[in-house]
Amino acid sequence: MPAPSPRRSPDFSARSLAIGPTGIRKMFDLATAETLQFGLGEPDFQPPAVAVEAFHKAMVDGYNKYTTQAGYPPLREAIAASWAAYRPGLDSSHVCITMSGTNALLDCAMILVDPGDNVLVPDPGFPLYGPHATIFGGTERAYACDFAHEFVPQIETLEALVDARTRAIVVNFPSNPTGATLTVAQRDELIAFARRHDLWIISDEVYDRIIYDRPHVSFLTPDYDKVLMVNSFSKTLAMTGWRIGYVLSPHAEAMQLIMKLQYYVTACSNDAMQRAVLVALEHASDYPTQMVAAFRARRDVMVRRLNAMPGVSCHKPEGAFYVFPKVDVGGLGCEDIAMAILADGVLCSPGTAFGFAGHGHLRLAYTTSMANIERGLDVIEATLARLTESVATVI
Ligand SMILES: Cc1ncc(COP(=O)(O)O)c(C=O)c1O
Repeated sequence: MPAPSPRRSPDFSARSLAIGPTGIRKMFDLATAETLQFGLGEPDFQPPAVAVEAFHKAMVDGYNKYTTQAGYPPLREAIAASWAAYRPGLDSSHVCITMSGTNALLDCAMILVDPGDNVLVPDPGFPLYGPHATIFGGTERAYACDFAHEFVPQIETLEALVDARTRAIVVNFPSNPTGATLTVAQRDELIAFARRHDLWIISDEVYDRIIYDRPHVSFLTPDYDKVLMVNSFSKTLAMTGWRIGYVLSPHAEAMQLIMKLQYYVTACSNDAMQRAVLVALEHASDYPTQMVAAFRARRDVMVRRLNAMPGVSCHKPEGAFYVFPKVDVGGLGCEDIAMAILADGVLCSPGTAFGFAGHGHLRLAYTTSMANIERGLDVIEATLARLTESVATVI
């Protein structure tokens, strides 16, 4: 009889133990009902009324059962059509509906990562990408997206990290947490890098419709097939609680694998909800544009006021609904600064919740009213002034 394998203590998988809790939730859990929120990445709007009504109607009409693994075909067809300008020739076979962008990202890691593989992930970046690689026995290799380069990765940084076991690069533009976007030339350089090393591109484009000053630049192009584009309706239709997203890829084999495996993850998505989202795509297609008008005004106030605070510098983001200012208060760490601001009644996330390169930064989501933004910024200004003074006194 083979010897029993050594027991781990406690009795859980090394992979699950290796993954830490998310730093975003840590701050959230410390907030009270009175705390002003710049913490959560979700629109402060409700989904389009037509979608809510259609969801209710679909349930009344009896769409309360399991449905196909890959999702409701007319919805998949509509999604494929919505990307035709980026990549002609797509149809429903290139789309798998998932129960969120999070689920879609997990699917991508699931079909690409074997034990020993590594995945290039942005730093600062949305904190799921690395743990998803870990779940499948891989590792993350964080590539820095520096303030000095407007949070756009440099090709030499990527070249220094890639090796024969690198399977994929995750890219996220517009970015959470920085709001950064890419030019077409920058996107093409990243595609050329992926081509040189035969990498998959997992492109998280959940903020594609939350974009301000120039059109969205997608990694979905006629030029590169090894792209898995992840999307979601959480942000663009203000339905973070519904949990619906999708993977879209021109790569037929990748899509077949994802559709097969989706059964083992959630079996299928919610039937009534998919019908409601289709109604929203057909009848409320300008909904993101309406939200963007409000977000743009808030962004402008955030950036102007933050840049007027001593020790703070903030790029003007071109997409998403976050600012990621650099905050230099007498050498204090961003976690201490975020805790001091929280004690004064405003929640924002320390940059380190998004990776090592987030040191010295805070993330503020402008997903609250203009009045709250003004009040919250008053508090932050006073907290930073007090911290600066107390540090100066100690020195
Ligand atoms: C960059 C990015 N990708 C994916 C997601 C996941 O979105 P959801 O799971 O709600 O679809 C988020 C949510 O904050 C995000 O910011």
